[in-house]
Amino acid sequence: MKILRPLLLSTLALSPVALADDVTYRKDIRPLWEKQCMACHGASSPSLAEFDENKDKYKALSRGPRMDTYAHLAAFTAWPDSGALMRRLDDGKHTDDGKPGNMYQYLGADETERQKNLALFKAWVGEDGWVLKRFEDISREELGRIKVEE
Ligand code: HEC
Repeated sequence: MKILRPLLLSTLALSPVALADDVTYRKDIRPLWEKQCMACHGASSPSLAEFDENKDKYKALSRGPRMDTYAHLAAFTAWPDSGALMRRLDDGKHTDDGKPGNMYQYLGADETERQKNLALFKAWVGEDGWVLKRFEDISREELGRIKVEE
């Protein structure tokens, strides 16, 4: 038992459930976003509406829609662009075709870093809230599981 107890504790400390308790935008997601996403989704990027109107132009410039505030980023989780963040960042475990979303590559330089940062985004959205469905398909109950604490 003496050996088991510390082992058990360290397993708990690493589990997503324990992580989920205190992952917030300000403390965890903002610094990660600045490092991995800001270059293409920062203040000089277009709003989603503007981006949608001129997609080809912005894609050619390697500019995605702006996500540089809590409110902007949260809009890609629950509403109105439900599941967008999850669809783009998923590593292929939840996607229909089994391939990673096309922003997964930007989560880190190698697989270990990508998995670590994906776990952080997942903990922020909520392990149960990691639903890849669009607004027309997502249920009210599923929407309610998306946490995204500021
Ligand atoms: C090298 C530039 C680049 C980086 C870095 C980047 N993105 Fe993107 N992102 C884009 C471009 C360009 C698009 C639009 C083209 C597309 O839909 O694939 C996009 C689209 C998206 C979308 C879909 C928005 C929509 O229309 O619904 C999400 C969500 C997203 N990115 C999240 C992220 C996150 C989170 C990160 C950081 C982990 C990130 N991106 C890093 C360039 C980038």
